[in-house]
Amino acid sequence: MRFSSLSTVLALGALNAVASPTRPELAPRATPTVYLCGDSTMAKNGANDGDTDGWGQYFGTYSTVSVVNKAIGGRSARSYWNEGRFSDVASVVQSGDIVVIEFGHNDGGSPESNDNGRSDCPGAGTETCISDSTGETVYTFVFYVIQAAKLMTAKGATVILSSQTPNNLWETGSFSSAPPRFVGYQLTAQKALGTGVYFVDHYQAVANTYQKLGNSATNALYPNDHTHTSPEGASLSAQAFTQAIYQKLNGTTSLSDYIVSNPPTVY
Ligand SMILES: *[C@@H]1O[C@H](CO)[C@@H](O)[C@H](O)[C@H]1NC(C)=O
Repeated sequence: MRFSSLSTVLALGALNAVASPTRPELAPRATPTVYLCGDSTMAKNGANDGDTDGWGQYFGTYSTVSVVNKAIGGRSARSYWNEGRFSDVASVVQSGDIVVIEFGHNDGGSPESNDNGRSDCPGAGTETCISDSTGETVYTFVFYVIQAAKLMTAKGATVILSSQTPNNLWETGSFSSAPPRFVGYQLTAQKALGTGVYFVDHYQAVANTYQKLGNSATNALYPNDHTHTSPEGASLSAQAFTQAIYQKLNGTTSLSDYIVSNPPTVY
């Protein structure tokens, strides 16, 4: 259909000296760019220790969009916000693009006791804290994520709030998968935002993958610590994310149409 109508239009164009303006059916299909905002578990080269990698750029293998990995090690939702990194992404995002936001690994602790510049104020709403090291007002994880998502949707982008990856769930030799609070906080933020903002439980997808892999194979993915994986682990994390998006684990997302055909099944 598409090709025959294309050749018909081309043939008509060839008969006319002046081509008519591009017809809608001839316009190249707009392919969005996906921007990834996250921490070392998503960043290229992971913790930059030579052994570990983040999952972000591996996603490019399993999607039909161009992937721009803006993840950076050591960041929390708060510090990514405070450093202006969400604004930097918002300044290049175009209407129709997709922004994935995934934090949690560096968001724990309290800004009121030896604040490290990364801890969010505890709570899932409009609670505020005062940093005991800088005196700044610190907001909750949910607050920072909501502000970040709004920057992106104001530019016409859609946003996927992705829950953080798990740590090594076989660390003790038996499987244990209680999600940290930041997993639920992403869903809380998504519900507060609504239209144009989606949720995917990347934590659950990777947990399911590890459960299927078993004890020794999962432990082998963690060369240094219980948070940062080998490149193989990063690739599995990307595949679990892909499967979750493809199978609509927590509902349809704006990435659902941009997955390669027959993506791998890892859980
Ligand atoms: C996402 O969906 C899966 C499958 O239904 C479910 O197990 C998981 O709890 C959901 N995540 C959240 C945070 O609700």
